[in-house]
Amino acid sequence: MVVKDIKFSEKMSENCSIVVGVYSDGTLSSGAVSLNSNGEISAGIKKLDFCGKLFKTDSFVSCNDKINHVILVGLGEKPKEFSEVEMEKLGATIYCAASKLDREISVLISGEDVAFKCSKYGTSLMALGFTLKSWEFDKYKTKKCECNKKNLQKAVFVTKECAAVESEFIWFRNLADGIFLTREVTSEPSNVIYPESLANIAKSELEPLGVEVQILEKEEMARLGMGALLGVAQGSEKDPRLVILKWNGAADKNAKPVAFVGKGVTFDSGGISIKPDDGMHEMRYDMAGSGTVLGLMKAVALNKLPVNVVGAMALVENMPSGSAQRPGDVVKSMSGQTIEIMSTDAEGRLILADALWYVQNKHDPEAIIDLATLTGAIVVALGHEFAGLFSNCDQLADQIKASAKITGEKVWRMPLTEHFDKSINSDIADMINLSKPGTRAGGTTAAQFLKRFVNDKKWAHIDIAGVETDKDGLFFCSKGVTGFGVHLLFDFLCRNYAK
Ligand code: BES
Ligand code: ZN
Ligand code: MN
Repeated sequence: MVVKDIKFSEKMSENCSIVVGVYSDGTLSSGAVSLNSNGEISAGIKKLDFCGKLFKTDSFVSCNDKINHVILVGLGEKPKEFSEVEMEKLGATIYCAASKLDREISVLISGEDVAFKCSKYGTSLMALGFTLKSWEFDKYKTKKCECNKKNLQKAVFVTKECAAVESEFIWFRNLADGIFLTREVTSEPSNVIYPESLANIAKSELEPLGVEVQILEKEEMARLGMGALLGVAQGSEKDPRLVILKWNGAADKNAKPVAFVGKGVTFDSGGISIKPDDGMHEMRYDMAGSGTVLGLMKAVALNKLPVNVVGAMALVENMPSGSAQRPGDVVKSMSGQTIEIMSTDAEGRLILADALWYVQNKHDPEAIIDLATLTGAIVVALGHEFAGLFSNCDQLADQIKASAKITGEKVWRMPLTEHFDKSINSDIADMINLSKPGTRAGGTTAAQFLKRFVNDKKWAHIDIAGVETDKDGLFFCSKGVTGFGVHLLFDFLCRNYAK
């Protein structure tokens, strides 16, 4: 369920609960001041000993018969300049405080009264954070548990600039719809989402929005010589797909596109190098990179960004079977380079090798960015707060870092070096899909492998293995899939290309 009914109005609703901002000196957000003429809100603050610390919340039942609950949200020290992420966090905080209390709220905090740096987007960003936090993947729960029941169905954000904010919010709602699509397909289990079904979803979601969708099947990939991708797929009953998505929004239809390539392993059992049982079910999320590319393309198309974009989803299932690839096999990639398979569980780099090569040669992109739940090693290095960023271009890396700061989808740049490149040489082929024993730095050695398939193009690789799900409440979502990367790369496109 997601709270879709979001309105902007100059007036609050009646018979609902109200959300009041409280600074640490006890001052109220301006929309609430007139409601406090009898001192009720101040008395409630005092009684609850509410300190107004940033993002702290509490509530009490109102004596006013037109108001149900008064929900207090801390705004911190005054004056405070809220950043964009803080505005979103404010919205998410409001959702958490209100979701169980009432079916409708009027929010009496707006972009005008929290001194927001770029006041224009204040209220709509708050509404974005609110709606993102309200999304939940509960379609397979046939009984809704009482203790976890969410009542909230409608939010009215009270602002003097409601017409402007409302039209601004369309932009963010479109972004949110992209993020929701990413979260939905990534959350779905692998008996529902497999290469063919995900390719069909891409087609049915994006074609009506004017995105050109091309689906390459096994035979076509074999003709193109994609031995690395096909080797991973050969153990599964489910045939692979390579989905190519094209959005031609730039004024110059021939301008070079920006390309995004997503790892889409719809289930990663490890193959013959099978994974331990513990946690294997989480490998249904191993297509998160492709899920992000899909949601990003939806947000781009809904907002009609004036930029040319190519998305690629490399979709396979990695299974053990009589026809599966073996450790020790040698495969030939589309680039002509040969790979000795040391572990069938290092499959992500194999499918990306062919997808990157294909996109780079077929679409001649200005820059190419891949997203992948590529290594457990990146989770060891960075935990669940930062995605690993690797790039052969400082300017591109800095642009992604700047968008990460603004959107709160954080990245940390990791090294690529000659030494690590050497560690993937093979004795009998051009490279191995692991690294020499003892090299360590598994996130980097995987990235070095990808680098051999991008030539001199501007390229970045984002390893999202640690951030595709959220157990710690670090992102704008309920427990589960985050949709990491859609907001980050949408912002990146807007700032650097869609001008
Ligand atoms: N899909 C996994 C990586 C992964 C691990 C994603 C944990 C999300 C959470 C990837 O295909 C994999 O199996 N990587 C191996 C690489 C190893 C065999 C070099 C790993 O990380 O153990
Ligand atoms: Zn994998
Ligand atoms: Mn694997």
